[in-house]
Amino acid sequence: MLRDDIATSDGLTFYDLETPCLLLDRSKVQSNIARLRAHLAPFDVVLRPHLKTAKSIDVARLAMTSPSGPAMVSTLKEADYFARNGVTDLIYGVGISPAKFETVAAIERTHGAKVAILIDCLAQAHALAEWSQQANHSLDVFIEIDCDGHRSGVAPDNRVMLEAIGQMVSRSACNLRGVLTHAGESYSLHDADTLAGAAERERCAVVLAANTLRAIGLQSPHVSIGSTPTAHFTRNLDGVTEVRAGVFMFGDLFQAGVGVLQPQDIAVSVLATVIGHRQSPDRIIVDAGWMAMSRDRSTQNQAIDQAYGLVCDLDGAILHDVLLLETNQEHGSIGIRQGSHRTLPDLAIGQRVRILPNHACATCAQHDSYQVCDAGQAIIATWPRISGW
Ligand SMILES: Cc1ncc(COP(=O)(O)O)c(C=O)c1O
Repeated sequence: MLRDDIATSDGLTFYDLETPCLLLDRSKVQSNIARLRAHLAPFDVVLRPHLKTAKSIDVARLAMTSPSGPAMVSTLKEADYFARNGVTDLIYGVGISPAKFETVAAIERTHGAKVAILIDCLAQAHALAEWSQQANHSLDVFIEIDCDGHRSGVAPDNRVMLEAIGQMVSRSACNLRGVLTHAGESYSLHDADTLAGAAERERCAVVLAANTLRAIGLQSPHVSIGSTPTAHFTRNLDGVTEVRAGVFMFGDLFQAGVGVLQPQDIAVSVLATVIGHRQSPDRIIVDAGWMAMSRDRSTQNQAIDQAYGLVCDLDGAILHDVLLLETNQEHGSIGIRQGSHRTLPDLAIGQRVRILPNHACATCAQHDSYQVCDAGQAIIATWPRISGW
């Protein structure tokens, strides 16, 4: 059966699907979302899901507090897609080049949405001020703060730079919404106290920046923090108005290595079929290579290296120490973790397995839809996802 033939999922099970394909366990997505919501419930903050992992309106609707958002996106293609589907409160979460101002404005005009942008330097602020006057269009702006030297943003104690950017935006036609940071260094941590420490540094950095702007009379109503690890381990959100996280909805082996969730909570897996066997070394060959899994090997620097993925049976039960050890473009070789005394399962040609990915964002990006299941092996829906920029 061709993938396009799956107009309705009625009566389909895993053996009716073409492999490799992407499975999404809806009940696990829902419980991952519920777990983060429960952790944040005692704090007076809004959860702004980052939709860069899911890139699907069906998944977004499970994670957002309302059909109109709020949400964050990582590409303007996502912004356009989600705005077209009724999400009107968006932040584009990547620093912007002036060439993209007009695209943002076009999305706002076409769909009646707000797509706030991030800036972190005077050149951007200057270009924005000039453009907004010429275009007669006001964009909402966050100043990005660098809380941990990860990649971008103004240093939180760089008062001169913050004031200069803040003043330039507020003298323009644009609207300064506040400050925003992303604790990207938290991904390299793995115990609760150090993660709580990273979350506290993230909070302090962005609150300091907001107070710097307020001290010179500028508005900073929104104070936004976020990464999946810090969102899960934060113990104090004083002064913060919203928390952003994205990969938490699905989880992956890397996030399990950080300690955010257990491997059995991971909602996304690749369905693969056995296509061969090899002796010495003992391997089961499946039709999921790096094109289906991605080349991501991010667990190799963690305490437990999961190779290209951890293999599960069709009910999602983990086959301990059974890993996708090697990949070619379309071949994957399943073997036993080095040093383990377990043996390979008896899997005949044509039998199927599920493989949990290292990095959900990268693996999902290899596929154009989710085959959605709940606890069992029945496909309950096919949800399209977008890609590209
Ligand atoms: C600006 C920004 N906010 C939030 C996030 C959410 O991060 P995570 O993938 O840890 O959920 C990211 C991730 O890249 C990001 O770049």
